[in-house]
Amino acid sequence: MERFLIEGPVALSGEVRAGGSKNTALPLMCAALLSEGTSVLGNVPLLRDTRTMLRVLETLGAKSELNSDHRLTINAGELAELEAPYDLVKTMRASVYVMGPLLGRFGRARVSLPGGCAWGPRPVDLHLMGMERLGATVELDHGYIDAKAPPGGRLRGAEITFRISSVGATANVMMAAVLAEGRTVLENAAREPDIRYLAEGLCRMGAKIEGVGSSTIIIDGVESLGPLEMDIPPDRIEVGTFLAAAPITGGRVRVVDCVPEEQGALLELFRQGGLEMEVGEDWIEVDGHGGLSALEVVTAPYPGFPTDMQAQIMAACAVAEGVSTLTETIYLDRFTHVAELRRLGAKIRLDGNVAVVTGSRHLDGAPVMATDLRCSAALILAACRAKGETTLSRIYHIDRGYERIEEKLTQLGAKIRREEEPS
Ligand code: EPU
Repeated sequence: MERFLIEGPVALSGEVRAGGSKNTALPLMCAALLSEGTSVLGNVPLLRDTRTMLRVLETLGAKSELNSDHRLTINAGELAELEAPYDLVKTMRASVYVMGPLLGRFGRARVSLPGGCAWGPRPVDLHLMGMERLGATVELDHGYIDAKAPPGGRLRGAEITFRISSVGATANVMMAAVLAEGRTVLENAAREPDIRYLAEGLCRMGAKIEGVGSSTIIIDGVESLGPLEMDIPPDRIEVGTFLAAAPITGGRVRVVDCVPEEQGALLELFRQGGLEMEVGEDWIEVDGHGGLSALEVVTAPYPGFPTDMQAQIMAACAVAEGVSTLTETIYLDRFTHVAELRRLGAKIRLDGNVAVVTGSRHLDGAPVMATDLRCSAALILAACRAKGETTLSRIYHIDRGYERIEEKLTQLGAKIRREEEPS
């Protein structure tokens, strides 16, 4: 196991670029299962999660190659298995994304039922409801979801209304519906950019999808799809994480090659908190020198403020002027970072799904532990602000979603070093 040693305080400043989006890459890698041909994805982030997804695809019998230049080829011409095993699904829930493409193309999928995660149950009932509405029979069998298309092997288009907006269910059902017979209408579909990019990829393969970006998506099923060729867009959460480094550490950070429209909710909060900003066509610069005023943050589906930025913005509130409130509405228990931020001196009180953060200009380095991906990001940035040394253990969490974060932060002036944890 490895850990980070971080020495603060440092005002992180300079220019940085985010890698390809994890949450866009994962479904697009599964979309390659929909075609017999060889798909090519560019700008694929080299992360633990994308490697886990490759193992899932390889277990199914797909042939793939991921180069150090972030180019990934996948050929799913012939598959040996239609089953995603427990060992992989338990390490990454997004493995469940193979269900839609397998069911759509082969009429059968067996996927281990994901268990709970560190911050709550995270059910997949909406994925299953969607597949059933498309005519599949879904059974739970010894911990596995066993889904079968109706006799004849092809799913049938249907009208499907999601009880809650779900990125995963929208993506999974969309990948199943592109090869179904007839029209599928998804109501209350997720509007996240990841869904828009997935639909773009599917349309490049020959799918017919309309309404993307709105909450009603219309899919007209086709008989077959060609291979996928696409570059993965920049990771909007990584972009947001680097932007948050400015108010957390009191520096000035410019993120280049990004999509500013995707940062609307974060930039609006920064504006309310009194930060100076400049926004270009594909770059954003945030100046944290003047300090941030207290914020009222409520997470919500896109275009609302993303739950994946809640931990990082909490670190910013911990050093802001005044009392902030952060309300988590997507995952009510997503607060494992609170106890660790407190160890650095942050003043946070939890009241159900609301965190009340009393800002203080001072944090102190301490030994802390990463408990999930975004928690790790928040702790690293808070540690850059804190006086003295912080050791952050269990950093495999950060490697799930940020490629070489220590190198990018070093570029911004951070004093951060990766080392083996002493046993
Ligand atoms: N939900 C259900 N039933 C379902 C599916 C979802 O009740 O069948 C609920 C969830 O419990 C949650 C809400 O619906 O309350 C939204 O969950 P969603 O399905 O949108 O989440 P997800 O698809 O499982 C993705 C990201 C997460 C991100 C969420 C919310 C991927 C691989 N994961 O998860 O990313 O937090 O959307 O935006 O795209 C991360 O990257 O750190 C991460 C956790």
